[in-house]
Amino acid sequence: MEKTSRIPGFYKLPIKERVKKVKEFAELNDEEEEILLSMDGLDSDTADRMIENVVGSMKMPLGIATNFLINGKDYLVPMAIEETSVVAAASNAAKMARVKGGFRAKAGEPVMIGQIQILDANENAMEEIEKHREEILELANAQDKILVSLGGGAKDMEVRKLSDEMLCVHLFVDVRDAMGANAVNTMAEACAPLIEKISGGRTLLRIISNLADHRMVEATAVFDRDTIGGSKVVDDMVHAYEFAALDIYRAATHNKGVMNGIDAVAIATGNDWRAIEAGVHAYASIGGYKPFTKWEKNEDGDLVGSIKIPMAAGTIGGITKVHPMARISLKILGAKSSRELAEVIASVGLAQNFAAMHALSTKGIQDGHMRLHAKNIAVMAGAQGDEIDRVAEVMASEGKIRMDRAKEILDEIRK
Ligand code: MEV
Repeated sequence: MEKTSRIPGFYKLPIKERVKKVKEFAELNDEEEEILLSMDGLDSDTADRMIENVVGSMKMPLGIATNFLINGKDYLVPMAIEETSVVAAASNAAKMARVKGGFRAKAGEPVMIGQIQILDANENAMEEIEKHREEILELANAQDKILVSLGGGAKDMEVRKLSDEMLCVHLFVDVRDAMGANAVNTMAEACAPLIEKISGGRTLLRIISNLADHRMVEATAVFDRDTIGGSKVVDDMVHAYEFAALDIYRAATHNKGVMNGIDAVAIATGNDWRAIEAGVHAYASIGGYKPFTKWEKNEDGDLVGSIKIPMAAGTIGGITKVHPMARISLKILGAKSSRELAEVIASVGLAQNFAAMHALSTKGIQDGHMRLHAKNIAVMAGAQGDEIDRVAEVMASEGKIRMDRAKEILDEIRK
């Protein structure tokens, strides 16, 4: 039977039932199911090995975005995030995208850049370094035989002049399925002494660049006009995009919405989301800060969205295998390579942006947020079980979401 990420009513199921559905979809074993149900995905020994001075762990909910169809394959997408509405919004957007076949995404080769800063080099240093290209690449590749055996490794290099006193060598390293920082930093450090000798200068910083513009991913989706509310909605969403394209204040918020989706998947899968954030914002700043996505109307009157961003996400290395939840999340996602993971992440970012723009250009986002907020207030007022929804609904319909009102409604219900 074909696996589908369409699970109608998933959000209404009790957690145990949801976990069961995910277990079936991702063929999780009993132990993985237990870890999910324990709501305690990180044991103290593992935590203590991950960073220094550990005194606890900071929990975040892990949700599953349903409905994602990307390049014809169904995905249940794990998202770790503290903000309400994000997982529901992504799932809804993905459901609407399915009408026109879901997302199409393509990631390029996973090439990261290692930077070696050179100070006070000889006048002819640039040419000299170029002449020793093969030797430098060989030395870089000698640092990571396994990566090379997998088809990765340092593939190319360039020398850049940053000022009269400062040069910079870029090593272009195919890191295969890793995020890549370890491999690239090791190579950069190993090559620095040789580069000093060749250039006559002094090398200083030797570190990966988070502007991963040689590791790009693109995704696109068509949203059927009638499914999303008609041609006025399509036009207004294009205006919403134009606002972001024209105004940096709006672009920052537009892109924040994209990152709601991207970061949540990156965190769930144990990826370095700060590196991803740095990369996408730096890329969007080339030539003046821009939105990560583009939206336009096609000849059928449907809305077409696209995203193009660097994506340094990996399926191996870092904490991907160390953190139990990252391991389980990657299994649920079922991405077989870093490129496939990047394609999913970009599609989720696009979906998230669609959902935000759709809400903002129709009824606004406060309605949905307030309904959830109302539930929290109801719980704080003492509501239990189905009282929570009843109290929240009355408050939301009255537009008064306050503790005193929640208590009054609860009293009325209980009478
Ligand atoms: C909130 O987390 C994200 C939004 O502000 C994004 C946007 O404005 O596009 C809703």
